[in-house]
This record gives sequence, structure tokens and C-alpha cells, in this order.
Amino acid sequence: MTTARFIREFMTRPNVVGAVAPSSRGLARRMLEGLDLGSAKAVVEFGPGTGSFTQEIVRRIGPGTRYFAIERSPEMAAAIRERFPRVKLHEDSAGNVESLCQREGIEPGSVDCIVSGLPFAAFPDGLQREILAAAIRVLKPGGRFVTFAYYIANLKRAGRNFRRLLEDSFDEVQTSRGVILNVPPAFVYRCRKAG
Ligand SMILES: C[S@@+](CC[C@H](N)C(=O)[O-])C[C@H]1O[C@@H](n2cnc3c(N)ncnc32)[C@H](O)[C@@H]1O
Repeated sequence: MTTARFIREFMTRPNVVGAVAPSSRGLARRMLEGLDLGSAKAVVEFGPGTGSFTQEIVRRIGPGTRYFAIERSPEMAAAIRERFPRVKLHEDSAGNVESLCQREGIEPGSVDCIVSGLPFAAFPDGLQREILAAAIRVLKPGGRFVTFAYYIANLKRAGRNFRRLLEDSFDEVQTSRGVILNVPPAFVYRCRKAG
């Protein structure tokens, strides 16, 4: 059911959804590999879509972790509310993460980790910059930002620009092993804000 909803959203708003199918469990696990969410104080998810990453985040966060998600599409937000009624969700743009943290009582500059499901390679340069700048403002020194990319999208200029932007914005950017069985095949960027 969620896959049908996802495809419908993709047909209506391809540059907002940016994917033809929900992320696989393998990609969700690769996204969260090496992150200590159990002892994190604050975690934010960008663009949860149908909730593939949400499911893994909810499993891993600790009892004291503050966690909320930001989803711009009303359709996808409804899907998340249905599937995860206990997850705190803001129907908004990830570019507004700073004011949303304030609303949640999370001090900007104190977020341990941002898990992003956003299709950055489908975004224009200005939007990529706006969202990344906002992400960096809310992360704590040494905080982590993880996001995925499709190999195929990286052949395009926007995909290559996004990689350069990550390298200019973060102290450290690592590329994970590929998740070949994801549709389409993908990998993860693991970024660290300067400490
Ligand atoms: C590639 S899909 C999510 C994939 C997700 N991992 C899944 O399996 O469903 C990207 C999601 O980001 C959302 N999105 C796009 N632009 C956004 C923005 N500026 N702020 C928040 N969410 C956004 C889309 O509505 C969509 O649900």
C-alpha cells in the first residue's frame, strides 16, 4: 500500500519525491551504520517519505533521545502518521529545521545527528545550499549528517555539485559501500561537522 502511495506521489511531484520506490531495508541499515543513536540526545530526520529510515531510527534511539521528522508532502506526512502514530512529525520544509528545533525545545547547535531521505540531486543549487546551511546550524560540533545518493543521479551535474557542496560544508565526508539491491542502486554520504 505504501509503495502504491509512493509511486503516486512520484508521478505527481517527481522533483520533490526524487525516487521511484521507497528505500530498501538494506539502504536504511547502511544509512544508520556506525551512528550511536542510542545515546544521542537529539536526532532529526529530513523527508521520511514512507518511513523506511524512520522504522530503523525508532528501533535504535534511546529512551532519552529527542527525535522528530520533517516532511513537506501532506500525502507522505499522512502515511507517516498512520504508520508511526508516536513519531513527532512536522509538515514543513527541512530548510526550517532551526525554528522547528526551537519549537521542540531543542537548542540549535545541539543536534547529534540528522538522517536525510531528501532527494538532493533533484533539487536546484539554491535549495541544496539552503537546506545544508540550516542543517549545519542545528548540528552540534562533531555532529553527523547522513544522506543517500543514487549512482545514476551522480552522473548528472546536480549530483556532482551536491557532493562538492557536502565537501565544502563539512569537515569530513565519507562514502559508504554501495547498496546494489536498492532500486535504484545507492550509497550513503556520512558527514561530520567540524568539532
Ligand atoms: C526519496 S523520498 C524518501 C525516501 C524514504 N527513505 C522512503 O523510503 O520512503 C524523499 C522525501 O522527501 C520529501 N521532501 C522533499 N523535499 C522536502 C523538503 N524540502 N523538506 C522536507 N521533506 C521534503 C518528499 O516529500 C519525500 O517524501
